[in-house]
Amino acid sequence: GGRVFSGIQPTGVPHLGNYLGALETWVSLQDRYPSVLYSIVDLHSITQPQDPAQLRLNILDMAACLLACGIDPQRSILFQQSQVSEHAELSWILSCLTTMPRLRHLPQWKMKSKQKGEGSVGLFTYPVLQAADILLYRSTHVPVGEDQVQHLELAQDVARIFNNRYGDLFPEPRPLLSATRKVKSLRDPTAKMSKSDPHAMATIHLSDSPDDIMLKIRRAVTDFTSEVTYDPAARPGVSNLVSLHAAVAMVTVEEALAQARGLDTGAYKLLVADAVVTRLRPIREEMERLRADRGHLEVVLAKGSQRARELAAPVLMEVRRRVGFS
Ligand code: TYM
Repeated sequence: GGRVFSGIQPTGVPHLGNYLGALETWVSLQDRYPSVLYSIVDLHSITQPQDPAQLRLNILDMAACLLACGIDPQRSILFQQSQVSEHAELSWILSCLTTMPRLRHLPQWKMKSKQKGEGSVGLFTYPVLQAADILLYRSTHVPVGEDQVQHLELAQDVARIFNNRYGDLFPEPRPLLSATRKVKSLRDPTAKMSKSDPHAMATIHLSDSPDDIMLKIRRAVTDFTSEVTYDPAARPGVSNLVSLHAAVAMVTVEEALAQARGLDTGAYKLLVADAVVTRLRPIREEMERLRADRGHLEVVLAKGSQRARELAAPVLMEVRRRVGFS
């Protein structure tokens, strides 16, 4: 049994961190759980300013990308968050069970509100909406990268608070982490690879050409030791390349190191780049093909949103009843 839920923001083509930290797991879970939902979380994306026409394109692009990665609408419900209004309604109810101090200490708020001077109320309550996404389907398992674990803990807390006050309704959702739970930036291996990184060379996108990938990995920050070893604390740059290599080639870190034997970091980078290119090529090609058919993508999302609404409606009805609205 169990139900899987996860989401991704439509803020541009996903990068290798999104793929290895989350999307790859999303694909594999389709065979392991009877009920699987994946959401393009457009409500979350407007916590940062978005150009409307660009947002519309990004939503369809994300749908194309998820399908290209192997999300199969026959085996999972792929949908657009804003098309299921229950998310916003449950989020309001849950926000009334969440204290300000509980949200103030979450790292994303601390970081982004500092960058912007003052953050919006939406940015502040973002993790409550995320809890609503998960709980609305009474989800049990949530495949995410390491940066989302604290948001998952909030969802667990909110579920517990609701259950205590109104009676058991929500199971405790558990994070599912991949082996590569945190892919690092290629420019600063102490930071995570991130969509908002201003440095173009820091991030490999799933749409990058083989030349782009080669260049970015050749320029990846390492250190002054030419031997290839795996020691994330002392040698974060080289170790990030080793874990990338292992992940894309689907081998263990030990096997990746065995392949690196006798190579200096310069030569090893070419091998890693090759493995990344090989892994991403079919995804990029399929994404290009799917992008051309906007109509098809719109139909996939409309059907997915319809199915998600059918699951969400009875849960929200029960919530309304427990709260005393009906
Ligand atoms: P988002 O859109 O930032 O990222 C999507 C997924 O990619 C993972 N990820 C990474 N994993 C490893 N290394 C990295 N460098 C890296 N960067 C990103 C993220 O952990 C995430 O799993 N708040 C969420 C979206 C969301 C959601 C939800 C997720 C909204 N509602 C409900 C789960 C359940 C986010 O912004 O993900």
